[in-house]
Amino acid sequence: MFSRVILVVLLLGIPLNALADVESRARLVPGEGAHQFPFFDYLTPVWSYNDQIPGPILRGKAGTTLVVDVDNQLKESTSVHWHGLRIDNAMDGVPGVTQDPIEPGQRFTYRLRLEEAGTFWYHPHLNTGEQLERGLKGVLIVDERKKLPWSRDVVWLLDDWRLRKDGTIYPYFNTRHDLMHDGRWGNAITVNGIVKPTLTVSPGERIRLRIINGANARIFAGTLAGLPIQVIAVDGRPVSTFLAFDHFILSPGNRVDLDITIPDDAGGRIFQLEDRFTRRTHILGRIKVKDEKPVKTPQFEPPRARGFIEAGIFEKLPVTKTWDLNAVRGGRYGIGWAMNNRLWPEADKATFKIGQPIKIRFTNSSTRLHPMHIHGAFFRVLEINGQPEVEPFTRDTVLVGPRETIVIGLIPEHEGVWVAHCHIQSHADAGMMTSIKVD
Ligand code: C2O
Ligand code: CU
Repeated sequence: MFSRVILVVLLLGIPLNALADVESRARLVPGEGAHQFPFFDYLTPVWSYNDQIPGPILRGKAGTTLVVDVDNQLKESTSVHWHGLRIDNAMDGVPGVTQDPIEPGQRFTYRLRLEEAGTFWYHPHLNTGEQLERGLKGVLIVDERKKLPWSRDVVWLLDDWRLRKDGTIYPYFNTRHDLMHDGRWGNAITVNGIVKPTLTVSPGERIRLRIINGANARIFAGTLAGLPIQVIAVDGRPVSTFLAFDHFILSPGNRVDLDITIPDDAGGRIFQLEDRFTRRTHILGRIKVKDEKPVKTPQFEPPRARGFIEAGIFEKLPVTKTWDLNAVRGGRYGIGWAMNNRLWPEADKATFKIGQPIKIRFTNSSTRLHPMHIHGAFFRVLEINGQPEVEPFTRDTVLVGPRETIVIGLIPEHEGVWVAHCHIQSHADAGMMTSIKVD
């Protein structure tokens, strides 16, 4: 009610909400396709959107509506979920919760009211362990109402693939091994479908680099040594204080937006984006600086958090809901991943009131990783293992490490039934999902 009153006031306050009726349209066709990896002389069969790996970058301006027509050309049902977007619940793309599956040959139209600028992504929410892994994913960017003068706006969608020597995707999903460990980790890492791409820039340029982890299960810890870098947004929303990029952990689903200024004297140099999450360092991509005269560096302030949830609101609040994360016997695969010992769809669900601050505690009783994601909301990390650890930004996905306990705070703002799940797809497919009803 409260938020509706505010909305009415806002609408009255703006004499002409000029953008509200602006619509743009896009088309997504999930289907079978092929992709050229550099390791093979032949194409690898994949599933993709519009025959592209990754799918097309969808773009819209904050305050407008993006209409996406999905035409399912796969041989199985699918759906499209808009990860991180806070939209009308009916458009959230979760079969069995917000819509029916889109059957083969059928269409579904999503109407997305884009309220906040930021970096988001889309992927199926059905048989996700397989559909995501075969290549169905893409990035959605909501542009600021006022364009910022970056020299360039670059998207790097991180992914990994488990490929066989014959050039095909390893066709067994949610295997016992994947289920007992941290899901399906691939043996080939790509950025925008390419192995170790190089971005060529000029000295002096100021770049917005949007990094998205679209992998099934792999976690990345990116470093880009030698360049002045600030993290300006996390999970699609501006931070309140700019932070260093080193050691930022990107779980499946997470995004960071980086503000990188190429120094005037960097001509001829090459910088590497490396992943240091595991003991083995992986080079993800390179930034190559042309050996030429510097261009003028655009000067401006990147956006900062607006309407940020005050951590203080949660201080005296008791924990509203605890979800214990652990493995159980049973379920579809014999090994289930449970929240409070229950498996989706027989989950231990929650109901929260709109506008009321909520504290959620995730207790990981297992020795595996669980990047927990909540649809239709953003939240703040407040505590890790009983210690205050308030992050200067909000997220929609947080990694709960082995035996770790994390407390988050959120204020439900959007009515509907929103799922919450582990973003390691094998864990989610094996039951690690629940839902939050907001009314
Ligand atoms: Cu990336 Cu349920 O979502
Ligand atoms: Cu998990």
